[in-house]
Amino acid sequence: MPFARSPAGPRSDQTPAHVAIIMDGNGRWAKARGLPRFEGHRRGVEAVRRAVRSAIDHDVRFLTIYTFSSENWRRPADEVALLMGLLKRFIRVDLAELHKNFVRVRVIGEREGLPPDILALLEEAEQLTRDNCGLTLVVAFNYGSRHEIVSAARRLAEDVRQGRIDPDAISDEDFAARLDSADIPDPDLIIRTSGEMRLSNFLLWQAAYAELVFLPILWPDFDDAAFVAALEQYAARERRFGAVVHTTAAMTAS
Ligand code: IPE
Ligand code: IPE
Ligand code: MG
Repeated sequence: MPFARSPAGPRSDQTPAHVAIIMDGNGRWAKARGLPRFEGHRRGVEAVRRAVRSAIDHDVRFLTIYTFSSENWRRPADEVALLMGLLKRFIRVDLAELHKNFVRVRVIGEREGLPPDILALLEEAEQLTRDNCGLTLVVAFNYGSRHEIVSAARRLAEDVRQGRIDPDAISDEDFAARLDSADIPDPDLIIRTSGEMRLSNFLLWQAAYAELVFLPILWPDFDDAAFVAALEQYAARERRFGAVVHTTAAMTAS
């Protein structure tokens, strides 16, 4: 069973509730083997399955995967078509199994202008799994953080124009509630594979206090050991959220 749940103990504070992954390095993985980039993307889908399984096994509640950015349309048309085809295939092949494993699928990103067949599949995945209470798999597809933020600003502006909200009263929460990720907690841990150290327009608002872990491996090689390595780095971090951590030393120094 590809997504089987192993008996997990109670979650500790050391376990991130929400892990988000920038799955990068498919092209380089293929190039290193003298294969076409497509092959890297195909193998990348296997790594997605492993990541879902790891998230379930390690009792992570939300897993966000960056599958296609709003800038990825700049790639050659045949590569874009292949990436679209792989997403469609992933949903067709894996949706039943995800559902059986209580996974709830959510999609973030711009839906307007997407090919109708893709849109229908994304909506089917959300509808079928909407009442599941296991892992929430957030699929960031045709996603760009700046666009998401601008859309939220437009919605707020419209609410102001309609008199539904007073501009002086707009809070962080009001803004966050208008993002695609409205009811999804902020990521605790963001992992990027392939050694690149940038966010590439991913969850810019939501990442305010995320811990960032950059792994040197290429996405098709991502496995449970890599997931665990990232969880271990996370567990060793001290999250302060701008406050002072009250150790004895800090108390005496102040
Ligand atoms: C990540 O791998 C997959 C997507 C962006 C869809 P890349 O295709 O970016 O691989 P590299 O970065 O060229 O190696
Ligand atoms: C980010 O990877 C997008 C996804 C993983 C879907 P890219 O490979 O597109 O990012 P850049 O171009 O290296 O910043
Ligand atoms: Mg890349």
